[in-house]
Amino acid sequence: MSTSGTSSGTSSGTSSGATTSSSARISPTAHYTGYTWLAHGLSHPALATPTGRFLYRALTPANRALAAAGKANLDGFLLARHHLIDALLRQAIERGEVSQVIEVACGLSPRGYRFAREHGPALTYVEADLPAMAARKRELLAQTGASSPHHRVVEIDATADDGARSIDAVAAGLDPGRGTAIITEGLLNYFDPVSVARMWRRFGRALARFPHGLYLADLHLGEDARPVERLFAGLLGVFVRGRIHFHFDDEAAAVRELAIAGFGRAALRRPEAHQDLTGPVDAASARAVRIIEGRVQLDAGTAPRSS
Ligand SMILES: C[S@@+](CC[C@H](N)C(=O)[O-])C[C@H]1O[C@@H](n2cnc3c(N)ncnc32)[C@H](O)[C@@H]1O
Repeated sequence: MSTSGTSSGTSSGTSSGATTSSSARISPTAHYTGYTWLAHGLSHPALATPTGRFLYRALTPANRALAAAGKANLDGFLLARHHLIDALLRQAIERGEVSQVIEVACGLSPRGYRFAREHGPALTYVEADLPAMAARKRELLAQTGASSPHHRVVEIDATADDGARSIDAVAAGLDPGRGTAIITEGLLNYFDPVSVARMWRRFGRALARFPHGLYLADLHLGEDARPVERLFAGLLGVFVRGRIHFHFDDEAAAVRELAIAGFGRAALRRPEAHQDLTGPVDAASARAVRIIEGRVQLDAGTAPRSS
């Protein structure tokens, strides 16, 4: 897939207007996924919205028919990605590598709610999204009654190079002595390859200040996209009024770009290959998505390059 031109020459400065306006269109999908997590017992009812319920119920017949026919379906792939990100984060926490998390584009995801409850003060969990979604999430989280000083929601713009809403500013508010993870789920495929490469470099630089830096995210590869995935991506593109991208043809191309961003150790995990960690996933659906497990390695030559 074309990422040519992203290895050098990306400019710094604040985010582009084009990217910011496409960001605003993505928000409705957060309502859909938010309801999906609740429908599968992963969330608190306060984190689901009427919009999410409406959208989820509208797609339920199609999802059920595909699942019954043994075909890839939306629920199957969302759950596969969500469970594997959970499992890899849990593993890093248990190994003592990570005790701070920034979940970028958190939407209505219950991960922060679940992990903050599970780990208490041992884990600092920062949820982050564009201003309107961040305000909504803060309000809904308050309704769960689970507020804690170690779990907060902040504003972020993943396309910002600097300023109060940049990843760098959010990371600067954390303890530089503790291992830290950045998570994005359901974000990358809405952005073009150059924007993703820039985003990864911002993340790489933000994580370089910590003793351990871990990046977890879902990614769709060109080589995994069969006609049904491309059709679904086209439909989703109509819904969000923007294109859905398959940035890289294969794992090697994605790993190369992650290395340039400072993630000297990176792998793309297949959810269907890690059911020992996640429990059962729907293999037909899981094959459509990979989970990036990227680690910042500050050896010579792998330090994050400036964009
Ligand atoms: C598909 S939703 C995914 C939400 C959540 N991660 C989940 O899996 O349920 C995409 C989220 O990305 C957020 N978003 C879009 N553009 C963004 C940007 N530039 N910076 C941060 N968040 C952004 C939207 O507000 C929305 O909450």
